[in-house]
Amino acid sequence: MCGIVGYIGSGRAYGILMDGLRRLEYRGYDSAGVALERDDGTLSVYKSSGKVADLEHLAEGKDTTGSLGIGHTRWATHGQPNDVNAHPQVSRGGRLALVHNGTIENYRVLKETLSQCGYSFASETDTEVLVQLIDYIQETNHCPLPEAVREALREVDGAYAIAVVERDQPDQMVVARKSSPLVIGVGEGETFVASDATPIVGHTDQVIYLHDNEMAVIRRGKPLEVQSLAGEARPSLDVQTLRLSVAQLEKGGYPTFMLKEIFEQPSTLTDCLRGRITADCRRVVLSGVVENREKFLRAHRIVIVACGTSWHAGLIGKRLIQEMCGIPVEVEYASEFRYGCPRISEDDVVVAISQSGETADTLAAIQLAREMGAFVYGICNVVGSSIPRNTHSGTYIHVGPEIGVASTKAFTGQVTVLVLLALCLAQIKGTLRPYEVEPVAKALQRMPATIKEVLRLAPAVEQLSRTFTYAHNFLYLGRGYNYPTALEGALKLKEISYIHAEGYPAAEMKHGPIALIDDEMPSVIIAPNDSLHDKVLSNVQQVKARGGRVVAVINSGDEAIKSLADYCLEIPEVPECLTPIVASVPLQLLAYYIAVNKGRNVDKPRNLAKSVTVE
Ligand code: G6P
Repeated sequence: MCGIVGYIGSGRAYGILMDGLRRLEYRGYDSAGVALERDDGTLSVYKSSGKVADLEHLAEGKDTTGSLGIGHTRWATHGQPNDVNAHPQVSRGGRLALVHNGTIENYRVLKETLSQCGYSFASETDTEVLVQLIDYIQETNHCPLPEAVREALREVDGAYAIAVVERDQPDQMVVARKSSPLVIGVGEGETFVASDATPIVGHTDQVIYLHDNEMAVIRRGKPLEVQSLAGEARPSLDVQTLRLSVAQLEKGGYPTFMLKEIFEQPSTLTDCLRGRITADCRRVVLSGVVENREKFLRAHRIVIVACGTSWHAGLIGKRLIQEMCGIPVEVEYASEFRYGCPRISEDDVVVAISQSGETADTLAAIQLAREMGAFVYGICNVVGSSIPRNTHSGTYIHVGPEIGVASTKAFTGQVTVLVLLALCLAQIKGTLRPYEVEPVAKALQRMPATIKEVLRLAPAVEQLSRTFTYAHNFLYLGRGYNYPTALEGALKLKEISYIHAEGYPAAEMKHGPIALIDDEMPSVIIAPNDSLHDKVLSNVQQVKARGGRVVAVINSGDEAIKSLADYCLEIPEVPECLTPIVASVPLQLLAYYIAVNKGRNVDKPRNLAKSVTVE
């Protein structure tokens, strides 16, 4: 969702901002804009609905000089995705320009008050209200911009990351955040600002993460000032070194990020597992779990909160933890958690799963769980994002930046970490002995090679995908560990191909979806040689008996299913608890190739955002 980039230095801001906006495209957006301040203090704003390329087109031939600027990609929340609602939003007379991620919840009240003071509003956005409020305070109090920003933010309820520039002040930018991330990149005589580190990579690896309720005043040639909204200077700037490279943000020869990320899984799983299994494969060490063993040992229950693909990983986590550790687990949609009268106590451990670490609903669930006294553990990918900063402890999945909106390598990374967590916890609780850990740990160590083997299916899946390009509906079925795999397979297909797909527990099919089955509706059935294989086999028979077409994901040599299914994708055999990792890969490929056949923009599917920072 919305992205922010800002620059102040000796270079040309426009090019830096446009490159930054392109890097932010993956988050999902529907309009973009920039404000540029020339050295003589004139401020120009260019903004347009559509893509960054449309903005570039608009700015062609216009004056784009200036070494101070802010830019934004907007994902519409308040008002249509049109030119007027795009950011930057400007104050009365175009004196201030502001970009904003998040939502100002009390914007209606503020708008009403400002209207009574003679302000009018061109857009439907909450952001315009904020910039007019800053303008009003500055005009009324005759104060410098930083003071006016601080005052205004005290009046505001909601979430924000903002960057503001002022006409006739070409040496200054003010930024602030609350519940929406903001990173400051510190270069040689230049400073960068962004909502995540991607626009900063390649310019500098020195970054400062702004904390909640902090603002920073960035002045050309002057030391950076970071202070709380109460006005207290931060004692230490806490400069961190980014471990991201430009290569990680590029397609590396693949036609899309999604395909690159699917094919990266052998190496991302290697990174995810690194240092977490002992050489003899008899012990798993997740430092976050080991360091908090008392909290986990005391847990009467574990509650997993997550959204989307991460929620599917959570369902697999439930089965893993219940089976290996004997602790009851509940899995909640983070978006529903706070509205479901949650009963959380100090004896609960809440595990929040999120690739981006920025999902607003997951953050809200974490906050509530903390307030209710639970110990909160995060499983995230993006280092330094909001969720790891708001949880008591956690584990990074370390799969590198995921740019494709549809999650692939993050899902397999999340499931891998959940297996590690369950194994580590089982050791601590004594529910698994080293000899029981060993076969799973060994199979995990082999997982990168196993996935490499699965990826050899790509040409066959591509060919198969052509059979289904024009299907209107799909059913995905699985049981036990692979019921969530079915949900995830269906989600992948609908996200990027826009074909309606439903994931279902295979046995539940007969309670409803069976009515839909005919030769027009393919069923993808996940049926590895696990404890439920024979039961899934009868589900395959039920579909075939009704004239349905079956694509089965099976282990090599499964003649029983091969003789029934129309198409089979054969995957290597692994311990049952690891089957979702292996089985999800052909489903990613199937969704990918069907979407490509349909000419879809797989990396940036319509209406979706990579990082959902609003409720
Ligand atoms: C969005 C993305 C999904 C993702 C979900 C949760 O909807 O498009 O791919 O699964 O958010 O995101 P998170 O970053 O919390 O895992």
